[in-house]
Amino acid sequence: MQMVVPLQCSLNMLQGDTRCALWPSSLFLSEFILSYTEVFTKKLCFEVGSGVGLLGVCLNHVKASQVVLTDGDASSLENLKLNLEMNKIENLDVSLDKSDSSLCTVQCIPLSWESAEESELWRFQPDIVLGADVIYDPSCLPHLVKVLSILLTRRKPISSKPNNNRDTDRKAKLESSNLKSLLEQMATGPVALIASVIRNIDTFNYFRKLCSQNNLDIRDITGSIWPFNLLPYMDSYRRSDVHLFLQSYSK
Ligand SMILES: C[S@@+](CC[C@H](N)C(=O)[O-])C[C@H]1O[C@@H](n2cnc3c(N)ncnc32)[C@H](O)[C@@H]1O
Repeated sequence: MQMVVPLQCSLNMLQGDTRCALWPSSLFLSEFILSYTEVFTKKLCFEVGSGVGLLGVCLNHVKASQVVLTDGDASSLENLKLNLEMNKIENLDVSLDKSDSSLCTVQCIPLSWESAEESELWRFQPDIVLGADVIYDPSCLPHLVKVLSILLTRRKPISSKPNNNRDTDRKAKLESSNLKSLLEQMATGPVALIASVIRNIDTFNYFRKLCSQNNLDIRDITGSIWPFNLLPYMDSYRRSDVHLFLQSYSK
């Protein structure tokens, strides 16, 4: 099957316009979503720092039950909405406190990690939180980790049980044990899938430390569940630079 995703992106990162650019981690995470559709189908997915919105397009494509796309930057959100419209995805532009999952499958919500209110985030109770290339600014990290820890605290049963019986699925056969363990982990509570290029090890270690202080487990699953090479645009980056981390709340 061929999938064409038109996106309006900034190509000039050198002039500081990083927000509307397409980052390698979102390409990698998009390949992961398209490779392991069963992980995301019928799940409530919540993305932090959505940027141009490629993950949202992929999550909608694999029929996530709800897709909440957020960003702290108003111009990025405007561009994100435009991209959803270019991909003919109906979406709703709402504020955090007015979000209503019954209104629309894909929602675009302004969410700055610094000003996010715990009571507003509690309402979402996602099954899967996603983030691509969001670990880079040390000053934002305490706020980002706080948002992750609120979203990863489970207060309701998972919205759909894992289906481990899809024997016909070629990918599930190839990766059965690792995929199974991911699905089993998801059955116990929400998880975050955070894809990141580690550009500064100190920043990344700081992120790890904050996660541990906030009772968040973080595991590098890059080598254990590898997505298929699906997006040609990813070839302009070094695939091996991207790490995929699985996060959950440690009980
Ligand atoms: C490096 S870009 C990655 C964008 C997209 N996830 C991708 O991989 O293509 C980081 C994104 O996080 C958002 N962001 C950065 N700091 C933020 C903050 N403090 N609160 C909310 N969003 C933030 C930016 O606006 C930007 O869209």
